[in-house]
Amino acid sequence: MILRELNGESSKTYLIADEGRGRAVLVDPLWTHVERYLAVLAYHRLELDMAIDTHTHADHLSGCPQLRFLVGAPFAMHKWAPSPAVDIHLEDGEEFSVGDLTVRVLHTPGHTPDGMSLVVEGHVLTGDTLFIGGCGRTDFAGGDAGSQYDSVTRKLFTLPDETVVHPGHDYRGNTTSTIDAEKRTNPRLANRTRPDFIHLMNNLNLSPPQNIQEVLQPNQSALGRDEISFPDWSELKQVRLVDIEGLQAMLLSDKPPLLVDVREPGEYSGELGHLAGSILLPLRELINRLEDIDEHKEAPVVTVCRAGMRSATAAAILGKSGFTDVSNLAGGLVAWNEAGLPVER
Ligand SMILES: [Fe+2]
Repeated sequence: MILRELNGESSKTYLIADEGRGRAVLVDPLWTHVERYLAVLAYHRLELDMAIDTHTHADHLSGCPQLRFLVGAPFAMHKWAPSPAVDIHLEDGEEFSVGDLTVRVLHTPGHTPDGMSLVVEGHVLTGDTLFIGGCGRTDFAGGDAGSQYDSVTRKLFTLPDETVVHPGHDYRGNTTSTIDAEKRTNPRLANRTRPDFIHLMNNLNLSPPQNIQEVLQPNQSALGRDEISFPDWSELKQVRLVDIEGLQAMLLSDKPPLLVDVREPGEYSGELGHLAGSILLPLRELINRLEDIDEHKEAPVVTVCRAGMRSATAAAILGKSGFTDVSNLAGGLVAWNEAGLPVER
């Protein structure tokens, strides 16, 4: 097995390969370094089976769409990933092969809802769920400190003690650790209760991510900044969320909301289906088609997408375009389907 970090920087990209079989996957490739990865693959005579992101990144543009474009490798992420560019949706406990190697997927949300870790031959790639002596922040993009704690303590910390930890980032020059060392010495986690950890994470007072328009929303939507003008952090923070029960109550009220589905046409009629009565207004077209829904400016509107991220962008755009009663469906069609509720196709 080859398991190598390829960037030598604070953001980590891993190559997992079976040299004998000539098969490989890349994990968390950076858009800026794609040519380097292709050179490494060529040098080792490896074919790329998949390009994988462990979660939706807020600090760099993903190289996965570019790798798919250049060498045809499918783009894989966890099922909760919001991006319409993802070809393969992985689930907790699922296994896939890289040559004769078996990689197991652990859903480890917290930093983001779509966070996953990958276990292979005594090693674990922990994405931004667990760092060496730290962990990913949980204060944006659907982050949740409680689920971060559960992901680490119930999933990662139940792996064998000697399992080698490969984090998604390291800002102090560390490369690897072990599950045992993190259990004993990670200052965010060792000897901390769940409420303790949540209190700590919710009071870190980190500055807001700088890259929300440049990176996070493009990664969530597979749209470029030349295609859409993304709302900023403060506009996104103002978006009101409605959960599934809340939406069901709204639909039964005497003023049911207009449901605006902002996914791509193929998704609307695809595997997850769509909500009965929803209209399709893809995010990329939204700003130019506002007159289609103009009569709803004063009426309740709920935006909907795959996982609730593109619809947050859409809700912020509607809010600043004069729509006065806009909510975003938390968790989108993935959550709706997980709840076993009916959809149309
Ligand atoms: Fe991250």
